[in-house]
Amino acid sequence: MQPFKLFAVLLIASLLFACKSPTQGVIADQAMVVTAHPDASAIGHDILRMGGNAYDAAIAVQFALAVAYPRAGNIGGGGFAVIRTADGQSTTLDFREKAPLAASETMYLDELGKPIEKLSTLGHYAVSVPGTVRGMWDLHQKYGSIPWPALIEPAYYLAKNGVVLTEAEAKKLNDFQEAFYSANDHAIVTLKDNGWQAGDTIVYQELAATLKRIQEQGVTDFYEGQTAQYIVEEMQRNEGIITLEDLKKYEAKWREPLTGKYKDYTVISMPPPSSGGICLLQLLQGIEAAGIVQAEHNSPAYIHMLSELERRAFADRATYLGDADFYPVPIDSLLDPEYIAENLADFDLESATPSNSIKAGEVNVVESIETTHFSIVDAKGNAIALTTTLNGNYGSKVMVKGAGFFLNNEMDDFSVKPGVPNMFGLVGAEANKIEAEKRMLSSMTPTILEKEGELFMVVGTPGGSTIITSVFQTILNVVDHGMTMQEAVNAKKVHHQWLPDRILHEPNAFSKQTKAALEAMGHTFEERTYIGKVDAILVLPDGRLEGAADPRGDDVAMGF
Ligand code: DON
Repeated sequence: MQPFKLFAVLLIASLLFACKSPTQGVIADQAMVVTAHPDASAIGHDILRMGGNAYDAAIAVQFALAVAYPRAGNIGGGGFAVIRTADGQSTTLDFREKAPLAASETMYLDELGKPIEKLSTLGHYAVSVPGTVRGMWDLHQKYGSIPWPALIEPAYYLAKNGVVLTEAEAKKLNDFQEAFYSANDHAIVTLKDNGWQAGDTIVYQELAATLKRIQEQGVTDFYEGQTAQYIVEEMQRNEGIITLEDLKKYEAKWREPLTGKYKDYTVISMPPPSSGGICLLQLLQGIEAAGIVQAEHNSPAYIHMLSELERRAFADRATYLGDADFYPVPIDSLLDPEYIAENLADFDLESATPSNSIKAGEVNVVESIETTHFSIVDAKGNAIALTTTLNGNYGSKVMVKGAGFFLNNEMDDFSVKPGVPNMFGLVGAEANKIEAEKRMLSSMTPTILEKEGELFMVVGTPGGSTIITSVFQTILNVVDHGMTMQEAVNAKKVHHQWLPDRILHEPNAFSKQTKAALEAMGHTFEERTYIGKVDAILVLPDGRLEGAADPRGDDVAMGF
């Protein structure tokens, strides 16, 4: 290359580097949908294009994910939605699963009172009464503008004609072949002798027939009709405990959102049976209560501050949080600024407070991001943040014979015994003990932010216990660190949950020097490939929307 040309290339390259423009997500003028799967995003986008509102799109996406993203998308699980309508009203929908009528406090313990391995995570006994179809039906009754059958049609089409597997999906299915064998007494469509590959197509014939019945008969089919029969038969053949009565009695609930302030923003989030809203508000208010000056993103002072706030919030979670329909969760006290300040009285800028000064515990935590979240804003400004789950990957791994969908293993989100950790290492007590018809405590944190009374952000993520802290950091990334929505989503995350007493972090979340500084304060570490998989939407100052899909997965943002 001529010296001049070389110089010009280097100059342009260095200018590009110096003026590196911020990474933005997908920008759209009117409407946006961000989900964990390309097919589901396309379906939501089409519904919005047809003139459907955000809630129509959410219903179509929920059913589409049940087909295209069966590890977490579901009709055999449950979830939460936080809703803010264009006229500024907000509400939440709780379609969390419930413990069956025959459930009891000691159902997962042996005669010596020890938890029986895998009983609350694998197979029929781990299943709780699904809430998704009832939730979507109620959402449609209240906010739907397009006829129900039209919203189920895309998922039906997908199931009937087949889903092309992405690489991540093929790998995930291969990882669980043995579990599929062990949990099912019949051949299931996700089993494959020599393994799945990217590009393979799975046709879900039984699921297509189920979706057709739900399309034609609505919610009744799932809770009282043919699908209910299939679920009950599946249970009876395998010593499961869900009965027709359980299904008939299931109700979703509209609940008042939990709202709070952080700086100029109003945070609208999920109340119990989610712990998400309470913990998120405790964390945000904790920053102000601790009186900490702004620390640089992922610096030692910043990570120390997050960890100290988080260990206290998770200690409260373990002690006080459960289904408020069954247990008097002291929400007001937990969010009282005085209480939050008191709780931080022993906060030391220089050293970690050992969690075992409160309680000791050694736990194993499963690496998993197997819930799914989507965010939608329509052209009128209606918004929905919806997080839905089967709990573990493919839930209990039980696929209902004849009906073709996976059932959850959400019973593991209860505290099966006080102090005994669940699959996310979370411990609990009386507040979250198992009781018939109770909802198990959740970390799912679908959240909407307002700024000066206007829609600002729609956010949420999977990730078990890391959901709360990922949403927390994503909000801080935008509000305090000036990141774009996409940068906030992409940014490396850290996490503390009281027990186990260590900072969980993504690879390269911070420098060696930062690690050394944190070690000197008394922190210990564990690395995890991914923390969170946030799908979010930000309203830009000019009113356009930035949709940010998390690159940690196959997630896609689509808008117009
Ligand atoms: O409701 C909860 O908190 C859990 N069942 C969520 C599970 C989850 O996020 C799985 N992915 N990591």
